[in-house]
Amino acid sequence: MPLQYYHRYTVPDHVKQKVLDVIDRNIHYLGPYTDALEAGLATRFQKKHAVTTNAGSGSLLLALHAMGIGPGDGVIVPTATYAGVAEAVVHAGATPVLAECEPDTGNLDFERIDAAWSPRTRAIILVHQYGHPADIDPFVALARDKGVWMIENCSHAFMAKYKGRPVGSFGHVGITAMSHKHLTVAGTGGAAFTDDDDLAHKMRMMRHHGNWGSTPDEMYNTRMFGYKMYLNEVQACVGAHQLDTMDEWIAARRRNAALYTQLLQRAGVPVEVTEEREYAWSSYLHFPLTTDRRNELRAYLNANGIEAKAHYVRPIHLHDAFQAKFGFERGMLPISERFCDRVMSLPVAPHVTEEDVQRVVDRIKAFFANA
Ligand SMILES: Cc1ncc(COP(=O)(O)O)c(C=O)c1O
Repeated sequence: MPLQYYHRYTVPDHVKQKVLDVIDRNIHYLGPYTDALEAGLATRFQKKHAVTTNAGSGSLLLALHAMGIGPGDGVIVPTATYAGVAEAVVHAGATPVLAECEPDTGNLDFERIDAAWSPRTRAIILVHQYGHPADIDPFVALARDKGVWMIENCSHAFMAKYKGRPVGSFGHVGITAMSHKHLTVAGTGGAAFTDDDDLAHKMRMMRHHGNWGSTPDEMYNTRMFGYKMYLNEVQACVGAHQLDTMDEWIAARRRNAALYTQLLQRAGVPVEVTEEREYAWSSYLHFPLTTDRRNELRAYLNANGIEAKAHYVRPIHLHDAFQAKFGFERGMLPISERFCDRVMSLPVAPHVTEEDVQRVVDRIKAFFANA
């Protein structure tokens, strides 16, 4: 039986019944399940507001707009991450300024942030890559000293903790994606969290063409330019249910990750795995490892029924569209380039059992033994 990478979550019958009720009741968006999901998210991220949207990149775009970021502004983004992060900056009309990652965690490297800094810098997007929190404190202090915005991207790090506190609760805004992530909401979604009433209000308005409200005058008066970017009630219903099982799911991810770390370190194979830093409590959306033979190892595992993945094989500055628009070139950010050339991820989601982990490690040992 092939070992699937993404979470094989099941939707219990009582939740399916609620989904049918959503369809029957004709409240298809921004109804009670969206309220319930947002309340649950705000509590978990320890923020006053949670604003759901149709995608993580949508939430990023709304946050940037709400902050007033646009043409002439620079936004610092790690290059070794999902290109949609920098794409949101481009859509806001600002310039993504790409920065180096740490060679082991893949997170934005504070020691190298100076190279990306300029008088035009208006915001930093800190991505907690693969689930392991970035070292948040120095970034918060820098943002405060320089008077720039800080957005935490928790798409991989739902409920991960930095010094005991949930990631996403430190920046002006935290965002998360909800497709093939810890939450999947039966499709695709996003959310932003903030204590700032003004930012929350603007994001709420902009996800619905800038005209949300309960009276006809409010509903048909575009008060700011926005988009159609909300989550539908079926997704919110499934998402609210998934929140209830999240602690269990993260515990299973952490159990699998601890076992991989232990077995791989003991195996003496030429792969590097990152142990959690002392400030970090990872929620392991992925279990990354780095190795010189990434492509061959991944192909071997896949051929042996183990769905290993490599997500960001190209740092953002080597994507065609970014090179064409900004003239980025290979060699510009060598640590991230090397990281992206060598990183891959093993299945770690809650459906993966301890026997599965053992099987994956046995296969990795066999690969290197036969090499
Ligand atoms: C780090 C990161 N940020 C943002 C996103 C954007 O999410 P979406 O695809 O929902 O726009 C993703 C999606 O994979 C991601 O991995």
